[in-house]
Amino acid sequence: MLKKAVIPAAGLGTRFLPITKNSPKEMLPLVDKPAIQYVVEEAVASGIDDIIIITGRGKRAIEDHFDKAFELEWTLRLNNNLEALEEIERISHLADIHYIRQKEPLGLGHAILCAKKHVGDDAFAVLLGDDIVFSDVPCTKQLIDQYEKQRASIIAVEHVPPDRIESYGVVKVTDAKTEDGHLYGVEDLVEKPKREEAPSDLGILGRYILTPGIFDCLEQTKPGVGNEIQLTDALRLLTKNNEQAVYAYEFNGRRYDLGNKLEWLKTTFDVALSRADLKEELLRHIKKKIEEVEQENKLFSDTD
Ligand code: UTP
Repeated sequence: MLKKAVIPAAGLGTRFLPITKNSPKEMLPLVDKPAIQYVVEEAVASGIDDIIIITGRGKRAIEDHFDKAFELEWTLRLNNNLEALEEIERISHLADIHYIRQKEPLGLGHAILCAKKHVGDDAFAVLLGDDIVFSDVPCTKQLIDQYEKQRASIIAVEHVPPDRIESYGVVKVTDAKTEDGHLYGVEDLVEKPKREEAPSDLGILGRYILTPGIFDCLEQTKPGVGNEIQLTDALRLLTKNNEQAVYAYEFNGRRYDLGNKLEWLKTTFDVALSRADLKEELLRHIKKKIEEVEQENKLFSDTD
């Protein structure tokens, strides 16, 4: 049974400056819960109980979030705020979490390589700390189910519109392997291809099951796009040089990339609209805003 997960969270988050100057982007809230808590909860709900979070400079807030908060718990108990107390205690008992520092942000591939000693000879899951997926069956569980059948690395993919393909790792696939057509054999991978050179419209998102052979490949991988050690390039070596099978799995669910400001805003709205305590008032506010904007546009066009 696959029990370990690595959550890389040491990136600089430059697309989200200035907030990421001294705050981890993985701690950006969706209303009142930080992104990385969703990610840890997905891992736990997928049967994982040993989690390694890769951190770096300025990421202490992540460790504090999953740690026991003695003074806070004491005060909540004193004030009889038992609901909040239960939630705060639950967070510090979610899983066995270990932290490894990536001394320099040399890329996603390098961040995963930092976990080599802890992972050892087992297959493991990777969940990016700024990517969340909402689904009935947790996305990582969907990948683990495929891993149990194939005993090979599995990458979660989704169809990406042509105008966004250049920001993804993209897979070249062989024919679908399953009856429902969701599993493909991977023939090749390219990180951030030019639109006209993309080998398919299947983009890689932040969920993987990796076999330990990936560590040798990561050690051989030279810096690629953005001068970073790319996981996509190491996976390429895994299929080509080591001739180990890699599969791509089109998961069921909706993924949000929180490293991008607009996506983070949209996710925040979606999460808020799914909550009974916020939905009505928020909808009223949005409707009012739309009316105001339409009114402004009308005034503007009337004066033309
Ligand atoms: P991203 O490329 O989205 O993150 O990496 P980034 O580099 O922080 O963001 P930008 O492009 O500068 O805005 C995906 C995940 O991998 C982690 C990030 O923390 C994020 O969760 N990562 C990235 C590392 O852990 N180490 C790295 O060297 C790079």
